[in-house]
Amino acid sequence: MLEEKILEFLKRKPNYVSGDQISHSLGVSRQALWKHIQELRDTGYHIVAVPHLGYKLVSSPDRLFPLEISQHLNSKFMGKKIYYFDAVSSTMDIATGLGIKGSPEGTIVVAETQTKGRGRMARCWFSPKYKGIYLSIILRPDILPNSTPLLTLLCAVSILEAIKSQIGLDTKIKWPNDLLIHNKKVGGILTELNAEMDITHFVVIGIGLNVNNDKKSLVEGATSLKEEAKEEVGRLSLIQDILRSIETNYIIFQQKGGQHIIEKWRLNSATLGKRIKVNYQKTHLEGQAIDIDTDGGLLVRCDSGLIEKIMAADIVHCR
Ligand code: BTN
Repeated sequence: MLEEKILEFLKRKPNYVSGDQISHSLGVSRQALWKHIQELRDTGYHIVAVPHLGYKLVSSPDRLFPLEISQHLNSKFMGKKIYYFDAVSSTMDIATGLGIKGSPEGTIVVAETQTKGRGRMARCWFSPKYKGIYLSIILRPDILPNSTPLLTLLCAVSILEAIKSQIGLDTKIKWPNDLLIHNKKVGGILTELNAEMDITHFVVIGIGLNVNNDKKSLVEGATSLKEEAKEEVGRLSLIQDILRSIETNYIIFQQKGGQHIIEKWRLNSATLGKRIKVNYQKTHLEGQAIDIDTDGGLLVRCDSGLIEKIMAADIVHCR
């Protein structure tokens, strides 16, 4: 894409660069260059043009544009196809549609806001515009449907690693997929499956992260990375880090199975060792969360001494 190339060119030059130089290097006419610069300006790039000096990129908008995400992403398959929406009902619906049409593994759907963002257990996912990361990823793992909960854990661990390396904040995972900082929820993962009894066609992993949300817009028990870091967080480099981290862990998962994910999950769990309560459908129990099983199930020692395995539920950490 020409706009991507122009941007890359301008980003590499801290000073003015002549129109002739850009046109010549990219093999476009001066007229076409002007048109594309205009289009970039219309999407929020501040590009100045000074006679005899040329063009200079002054600032880029805080948007998760595909051309920005893919620049220097250096991934093998993750984010090779990016679908971007300024507003959408839910990135899950778009990704599912794309999955059905055969979109390849690593296709991602990103939105700046969602009007019907959803979470687990049919809850809503509040998606204020330009504040968070709302992302769905299509994966086509060669695993049985009952092993797909491991992918949720894999993503939780990967996001935690990205937050640590990018912002230096310690994140913990509440089983199965809540990301917590200082015991407050900063993000969540929703995994939706397109499968038959014993064939996984594809999986859509939905990631919602509160990034630059202000305190007053957060519900009780929630936080944002900005609140915790005490400064604005760059969504672009964070989403790139998340994609790279998921890809790295996913490749290991495909080659060697889920053991490394389980180990990393255990090390970063906010749940293990805690007394927990489960009230979900017909399961009502209380006990100590003692471990996670190889399929991602939570093992709970009930007061009776019996060990129960929970595969899907909402749990409450007791004090
Ligand atoms: C949860 O904690 O309940 C999971 C929340 C998942 C929210 C994300 S935002 C991007 C994607 N689109 C959605 O509608 N939901 C997921």
